[in-house]
Amino acid sequence: MRHLITSALPYINGIKHLGNLVGSMLPADVYARFLRQEGEEVLYICGTDEHGTPAEIAALEEGLDVADFCKRQYERQAEVYQKFGLSFDYFGRTSSQAQRELTQDFYRSLDQHGFIEEREISQVYSITDERFLPDRYVEGTCPNCGYEKARGDQCENCTKMLNPTDLINPRSAVSGSTAVEVRTSRHLFLRLDKLSDEVRSWVESQQDWPSLTKSIAKKWLDEGLQSRGITRDLKWGVPVPKAGFEDKVFYVWFDAPIGYVSATKSWGEANPDRDWKSWWYDAEDVRYTQFMAKDNLPFHTIMWPATILGTREPWKMADYIKGFNWLNYYGGKFSTSSKRGVFLDQALEIAPADYWRYMLMASAPESSDSAFTWEQFQTKVNKELADNFGNFINRILKFTASRFGNELPDGGEPGEAEAELEARCQELVGELRSHLKNMQFRKATETLNALWSAGNQYIDVRAPWTLFKQDKDQAAVVIRTCVNLIRLYAVASAPFIPETAERLFDALQLTGAERQSTMTDATDLTILKAGRAFEVPPVLFQKIDDDRVAELKAQYGGE
Ligand code: 2FM
Ligand code: ZN
Repeated sequence: MRHLITSALPYINGIKHLGNLVGSMLPADVYARFLRQEGEEVLYICGTDEHGTPAEIAALEEGLDVADFCKRQYERQAEVYQKFGLSFDYFGRTSSQAQRELTQDFYRSLDQHGFIEEREISQVYSITDERFLPDRYVEGTCPNCGYEKARGDQCENCTKMLNPTDLINPRSAVSGSTAVEVRTSRHLFLRLDKLSDEVRSWVESQQDWPSLTKSIAKKWLDEGLQSRGITRDLKWGVPVPKAGFEDKVFYVWFDAPIGYVSATKSWGEANPDRDWKSWWYDAEDVRYTQFMAKDNLPFHTIMWPATILGTREPWKMADYIKGFNWLNYYGGKFSTSSKRGVFLDQALEIAPADYWRYMLMASAPESSDSAFTWEQFQTKVNKELADNFGNFINRILKFTASRFGNELPDGGEPGEAEAELEARCQELVGELRSHLKNMQFRKATETLNALWSAGNQYIDVRAPWTLFKQDKDQAAVVIRTCVNLIRLYAVASAPFIPETAERLFDALQLTGAERQSTMTDATDLTILKAGRAFEVPPVLFQKIDDDRVAELKAQYGGE
């Protein structure tokens, strides 16, 4: 099997926050890195979701042309993700030519098979702004939960999907004006009602989906699927190839998932050896895994599969959909407008990417919503990364360099303690691999941390510092074992903290092949032999003290 991995395409409208990263791109990246390490063929695709009202509104706020705004934001986002070590094989854009063509093709196929209908509908029109207000251009009170800042497409509080005319007390997001009225306009609809049974059998045939994914899909199906508008009165988007629709574009959620396909196409076009279509069309040898936060689940379990099914073409559908709950900031939501929480560019000014990657995976909101706090960040960094992991490495390598020089010492044979350690490592690596295969990221970091503890327990018992005075050969055995253990740590940690793993590989002066080891192979703690040269790396993780925590809380909000 080849592995196709996608993470929800982030909206173009601004730099994302930690809550966005933890529920889509980061776990997808850890999974992709793990599979590559295991020798699997992986294609990890992501990109920016550039259409729709969020982009237009943000461009408007900055006084920029939408296309220019998107180009700038695309570059900013791509740079931040690269700094976070996200190993996309391709990071595309839904404003591409490939996207335009594919979206129009999908539409034509749906139309040919009778899944598109034209209807005249009521739309919210702003008298002040002299325009229709689709989706996010209109805000108001959610009829379902009473949340006052619900948007015309979806309530972010209760996740209910809405139509702009559903909102109570509607107002324009462009001008804030409440001078709005309902006017009619012709639009195209996707006949989800006709596709409902097929979507249901597809959902029901998914034996191993996580319960969050399945329950959201079922809830939607049970509520009954209705035709859904797939066009909008906007200028920015994929043009609708139909007479009379020249002033309209496709709805952003109609074209967004096609972005996975078009980004793959763009990846393919960059190199003639790449057969992009084999990943998506008649791709029976591909296992496709999607990552996203729970608000995206309805689109990926219902709307996008319905779109594919309705084309009557063999496009690849997801084999597994990993959904995440919310990562909150203290009790509440991360919020751009009220400046609560941490955005990705800010995060990198506070600490290197690996600190965040580890911390976020350790608190991934998998079984329920979870909260980010600075105190927890401090604990994860200080206790786990710095004390349990970094300290072991620096202590061992420094000690070795000062007593034996910068080469692994000769003498002695591994004994019972070493055999026990190796067995423990094999057991933990087995567990870690199984958590990663099952995409259980929180459990995976717990196991990784247990692996780091195993080294500390071993040197507590074997105390090379005292052994050195009594039995140099035995001390040499312990040192060689520990340095091999450091190599195992680097390999096992690499999917989570790739930059640190690289630094360790450099410190141990590993060859290219040695760096590419699987975790399983690296549990052999005798691979690096006497005579191997190494360097002592600078302290791997800086601790975060209480004053700094107080400062961060004051700056970013807390409690
Ligand atoms: O929620 C979001 O950020 C959306 N832009 C996700 C789109 S996922 C895919 F369909 F493109
Ligand atoms: Zn609501």
